[in-house]
Amino acid sequence: MKGIILAGGLGTRMYPSTLVCSKQILSVYDKPLIYYSLSTLMLAGITQILIISTPRDLKIFEELFGDGSQIGISLSYVVQNFPRGIAEAFIIGDEFIDKQSVCLVLGDNIFYGHGFPKILMNAAKQKSGATIFGCHVSNPFDFGVVEFDSLGNAIGIEEKPKQPKSNYAVSGLYFYDNGVVDIAKSIKPSKRGELEITCVNNIYLSQKKMKVELLGRGLTWFDTGNHRAMLEAANFVEAVQTRQDLYIGCIEEVAFRKGLITRDVLLGHAQKMKSTEYGRYLYKIADTKL
Ligand code: G1P
Repeated sequence: MKGIILAGGLGTRMYPSTLVCSKQILSVYDKPLIYYSLSTLMLAGITQILIISTPRDLKIFEELFGDGSQIGISLSYVVQNFPRGIAEAFIIGDEFIDKQSVCLVLGDNIFYGHGFPKILMNAAKQKSGATIFGCHVSNPFDFGVVEFDSLGNAIGIEEKPKQPKSNYAVSGLYFYDNGVVDIAKSIKPSKRGELEITCVNNIYLSQKKMKVELLGRGLTWFDTGNHRAMLEAANFVEAVQTRQDLYIGCIEEVAFRKGLITRDVLLGHAQKMKSTEYGRYLYKIADTKL
């Protein structure tokens, strides 16, 4: 399975912070926002990853991560010239995806919780169809929203409905079989001029090939769409990391625990960041079994 991180968009809801740089490069507590979505893909066992961003911002991600070998993965980069919608990722990424299945994560989504790696590994194993995740939120009207029948089966998804039919928002993490490329190519732009991911998901639903997995209370999802949401996410990360000394979105730790890098490489990362708590944590990880 291949992975795609979509880190595009102009970040207009985050001005002035994003006037000259990508939202996904801004810090959520102690690391760039994009670290969280990259760690999600790595936890799913995905090591071939494409980062899609704007012509302005792509180079900064290349500078940050290079070819990915320092964390034991392979990264490539491609530009999305205009924000034409999330589903365009599969058209831009067509060659990269090739004949494989693909997982797309939005570069501003943060997931954390008990059992999440297992959920990811299971979704990554699927051979056909698609899996998306529904999360209970207080503001469903800001997202794609799942509609359920009386038996609790998902029967439709509405994009940012004025009157949401449930409190379950579709998170920005999507697993698809290879058919998604043709589906993305077949859909038409919505009224706001975008190739909507919700449109793709509704096609999978109507073909009865879509699994909508609901993430329960043990799982936390942040969509960091504005300054307040960024701060809420940062406060959450700080609280968990300080209390437990277990980090969220630490890509070097994930790489080490998954056997993608050696202890020496991990220590190299630790040395580079030795004046930070992050560096101290990496030193600790190098000497901890559990
Ligand atoms: C996008 C999708 C929406 C989804 C959300 C998750 O919204 O269109 O269906 O619920 O991501 O983060 P956007 O971030 O473009 O407002």
